[in-house]
Amino acid sequence: MAIQIYREGAVEFHLPASEHLFYNPRARLGRDLGVLAMRVEATRLERPLEVLELMAAAGLRTRRYLTEAPVAHMLVNDANDEAYRLLQHELKDDPRVEVRHELAQRLLCQLYLEDRRFDWVDLDPFGTPAPFVPYVTGVIRWEGLFYVTATDAPVLCGAQRGEALKSYDAVSALGRECHEFGLRILIGFLMRRFVQANMYGVPLFSLFDGYCWRVLLRVFKGTRGFPTENLGFIAQMPDGEYRATLAGVPAPLNTELKPSNTVRWIGPLWLGALHDHGFLSEMFRSAKEDYFAYAKRVIARMHRELDEIPIVYNLSGLADRLEKSVPSTRQAIQFLRERGYRASGVHHAGNAVRTDAPLAVLFQLWEG
Ligand SMILES: C[S@@+](CC[C@H](N)C(=O)[O-])C[C@H]1O[C@@H](n2cnc3c(N)ncnc32)[C@H](O)[C@@H]1O
Repeated sequence: MAIQIYREGAVEFHLPASEHLFYNPRARLGRDLGVLAMRVEATRLERPLEVLELMAAAGLRTRRYLTEAPVAHMLVNDANDEAYRLLQHELKDDPRVEVRHELAQRLLCQLYLEDRRFDWVDLDPFGTPAPFVPYVTGVIRWEGLFYVTATDAPVLCGAQRGEALKSYDAVSALGRECHEFGLRILIGFLMRRFVQANMYGVPLFSLFDGYCWRVLLRVFKGTRGFPTENLGFIAQMPDGEYRATLAGVPAPLNTELKPSNTVRWIGPLWLGALHDHGFLSEMFRSAKEDYFAYAKRVIARMHRELDEIPIVYNLSGLADRLEKSVPSTRQAIQFLRERGYRASGVHHAGNAVRTDAPLAVLFQLWEG
């Protein structure tokens, strides 16, 4: 069988040519960030981690975690036959590893009944993580971490809004800011599921990386610490302005359904912070190897953004409306700050700003 060799991080992978088991270079950033976050967490706990990887595929993430992060024990699973055989073969000599071949939901139920809990639960499906999240709530240690991916871009970005209602109980929205809404819809969904299981999460980092969404949550017991005011909606007003609003706030009067007087509701979604900046700084510091150069740039971008502001405007979108050219993002941020508003870049869009300024003030950018 033809074998292909790839190198990523500190690991060399030998993959058989297969339709199912392939190397996806776009997923590398997610693995890099996972390794760095694990290092930070093991330092905090002053011990190596107990890890559950629910969907390991060819074991790329598995091998990177085992090689580059402090891992005491790792339960590695995939439902696919080919993946299971490869995982068994690749990991058989590592005494820290237990390989399983189950549907993730079944495995999670078994682990719950066995009262097994983990410091780190890793969920990396194709598409939505939604069906698995309620089961995950039973296997994470208090203050443990949940690292979750969503790749269902048409759903979270509003092209398949019916599917978004089914998967996330939320209305998604097409448009230039859809990746931000998608990220916040995903986090909002995770928060609601955890709260319903009498626990809550705090995001340590959250990103859209141009390919998929990834969120790392720290999970706490009970719901007393959960900030309900961070769950709400974003309303897009008839003039295009976005407004973050709490659940329960009455909708603006809307008597006729014409685009010119229609308010578009997006959510429910997470209106709170996307990152824990202390944790991001620790991740940055733990990235000593040269091969983390790109991951460090992304961490720095996340660290610089005012992620507690949920409103994002894409400058190209506004420029198109005015049929004018796009100003530089740096110029736009400076302009807004000079007028007393908060403004920053956005980690997932070079031509967008995060701001609390009204839309009318943004439009002044093109005046004069
Ligand atoms: C995106 S891949 C995982 C990639 C891997 N985490 C990495 O970083 O290289 C998704 C994997 O999930 C597996 N999978 C899909 N549904 C599953 C389920 N219900 N239970 C267990 N595994 C599942 C698929 O077989 C596939 O190998």
